[in-house]
Amino acid sequence: MKFFLDTANLEEIRQGASFGILDGITTNPTLAAKEKKPFRELILEICRIVKDGVVNAEVVSTDLEGMLREAREVVSWHPNVVAKIPMTPDGVRALSILSREGVRVNITLVFSPSQALIVAKAGAYFVSPFLGRLDDISIDGLALLREILEIYRAYDFKTQVLAASLRHPLHVVEAAKMGAHIGTMPFKVFEMLFRHPLTDRGLESFLKDWDKARETLGEITEPAGTRRGSR
Ligand code: E4P
Repeated sequence: MKFFLDTANLEEIRQGASFGILDGITTNPTLAAKEKKPFRELILEICRIVKDGVVNAEVVSTDLEGMLREAREVVSWHPNVVAKIPMTPDGVRALSILSREGVRVNITLVFSPSQALIVAKAGAYFVSPFLGRLDDISIDGLALLREILEIYRAYDFKTQVLAASLRHPLHVVEAAKMGAHIGTMPFKVFEMLFRHPLTDRGLESFLKDWDKARETLGEITEPAGTRRGSR
């Protein structure tokens, strides 16, 4: 499963990238607006940090011509940029044209299996079902993800399923068990994936025990030339 961070915050992206397991970034207009930087500058800075990772930049026009213009513009900024377009009739029209041109498009704001079927037929590179926002209105987001994966497997669609709006580690784990290609999550959720109270407790007691026996055990690394037997 590929890990994307759902943020436009450069500090969070730098921290996320430092672990060596980050595959890309999703941004949206709300996330970009928080950063108070020109959009192009922000996307290029993100591309520099994530190196080979893909960076999703969303259009804000809602008409066909505007979407085409903005999508072509954002992908011209850097080879790793994917154009993010909302799931609307004009969005699908734009997707069909752009996918024939070889432009990689992520269709966002997907909330039903029929929407996902349409965008796969139209050649989307990524489809983004929003799990958390469905859960928010008492509809099972993970059930939607399962249905989309079932349809895509039945027809061997090449569109990659990007599980979005993930709100907690269980969303990530369940999406991974189903074989979602990608999970995009806020930095807070990414951090939660690392943690376990037994890891913390175990480490604490290991270190306490080592400390008690430090005189006998010595240090694992000693300054060069001071190890017994060294010249
Ligand atoms: C995905 O591309 C979206 O930016 C994101 O996952 C939305 O998540 P939210 O519902 O937590 O805002």
